[in-house]
Parts: sequence; structure tokens; C-alpha cells
Amino acid sequence: MKKLNHVAIIMDGNGRWAQMRNKPRAFGHIKGARVAKKIITHASDIGLKYLTLYAFSSENWLRPAIEVSFLMKLLDRYLKKETENLFKKNIKFSVIGELEKLPMHIQSSIDYAKNRTRDCTGLEVCFAISYGSRQEITNAVKKIATQVSNGEVQVSEIDEVMLNQNLMTAARPDPDLVIRTSGEYRLSNFLMWQCAYSEFFFSDTLWPDFDTVEFDHACNSYRSRHRRFGKLESAIHAESINY
Ligand code: IPE
Ligand code: IPE
Ligand code: MG
Repeated sequence: MKKLNHVAIIMDGNGRWAQMRNKPRAFGHIKGARVAKKIITHASDIGLKYLTLYAFSSENWLRPAIEVSFLMKLLDRYLKKETENLFKKNIKFSVIGELEKLPMHIQSSIDYAKNRTRDCTGLEVCFAISYGSRQEITNAVKKIATQVSNGEVQVSEIDEVMLNQNLMTAARPDPDLVIRTSGEYRLSNFLMWQCAYSEFFFSDTLWPDFDTVEFDHACNSYRSRHRRFGKLESAIHAESINY
């Protein structure tokens, strides 16, 4: 059976879910956080190795201040409540994104969760928070350019492996499968480099209605796909082109 190591999810549709119920958008975010918790547990139970969740984009900072501060509060509450549960389930917690833009107390909660689960060997869950792929790639280019101007790296040495190593995701393989909910068909600045050969699963379900059954359905759909990586079917021995 085709190997599925890494699922990444663009958890979209919280606001619309709430608005359809004549509730404030925050109501959808609360329900969405509960669904995220269930999906993390399920991913761990089925033995998935990597799960990446898009929780807050670089561009989400441009939302009304009241929504941004609610989302920060929710994130802080999640970290405080769930870190111990993650540890007990042997789940390793990590984050990608421009964390320096987050309030200090959230940065501390993130550090605590990372440290607490540092030695966990089960599922590795990564939250993309204040994350944008263009910003990530721009920063990687800046880091490499600095090394070139310091004489530590030659221009001729720059290759895909080096660029990949300078991304925030350097320690993780590329996603095999990307799921986006809420009937939108775009990446919204999510893992653009890393998704070069990922499979996509788009669902009309709004994130607060997403569940483990649909998650399994997406995984099964992945397993029926043919990944060619530009080659001919007969020539494929490797499962992916991860660095
Ligand atoms: C996804 O739901 C959660 C975040 C982006 C933080 P949205 O808040 O984007 O919900 P919709 O897309 O407006 O329904
Ligand atoms: C993408 O959803 C970001 C997250 C799910 C965290 P958005 O709702 O921000 O994306 P757009 O604005 O519809 O592209
Ligand atoms: Mg949205």
C-alpha cells in the first residue's frame, strides 16, 4: 500500500460555519479548535508520522484586531490545556512561522510545549502560526545571501538541498497529502515549495464539520493515486523526492 507519512491541512471555513448559524465568527474558531484536537488524536492513533496544521497565516494578521486577539487567546488556551495531553500521547509538538510577531506569553507557551514534548517519538504535529510561504522562502534566500557575502558559501554551491535546509520545515519531509476544507481551491501561501509534488484533497466541508471519517476518506483517496514525480510509472522505485 502507498506510504502516507505526512498530511498537511488548511483548516478553513470556521467563520462561515458560525455565520450560517447566526453566531459570531469566534464561535466557529472554538469549534474548529475542538476538531483540530480530534484530528491530532486520530492521526496519532492511526500511526501517522507527521501532521502539519495551518492555524494562522501571515496575512491573517490583517483581519480585524478583535478577531486576531481572539485567535491568539484560543491558541494560548489550547497550548496551556493540551501540552500535557500531547506529552501523554507521545506526540511531539512543533511550530513554523514568524513567531517573533506573536505576543510574548504565547511564545513562552510554545517554547514550553516544544520542550515538554521534545523526546516524544510518536506523531510529530506542527502548527503553522503566523506562517507564510513567501516570507519563509524570502528569509531562506536572505540567510543564504548573507553566507555568500560572508564568504562562507559559493554561489555555485547553492542548490535545492541548501534552499530546503534554510526553510523552517528543514527537519520534516514534504507533505504527501494536502487537505483543504471549505470548498476553496487554493494554497493561500501555505508550503508552496514543499508541496511541489504533494497530492491534494479538496473538501466542501467547513472545518468545524470535518471529522475523522472524512480524514480517513482523504487518506484512502491518496492511496489510490499514482505519484509519478515527472517520471514514467515503470521507473518509479522511490516513494517521494524528499531531500
Ligand atoms: C480558518 O477559518 C481559520 C483561520 C484562518 C484562522 P476562517 O476564519 O478563514 O473561516 P472562513 O474562511 O472565513 O469561513
Ligand atoms: C488560510 O485560510 C489560512 C488558514 C486556514 C489558517 P484563509 O481563510 O486565510 O485564506 P483565504 O483568505 O481564503 O485565501
Ligand atoms: Mg478562510
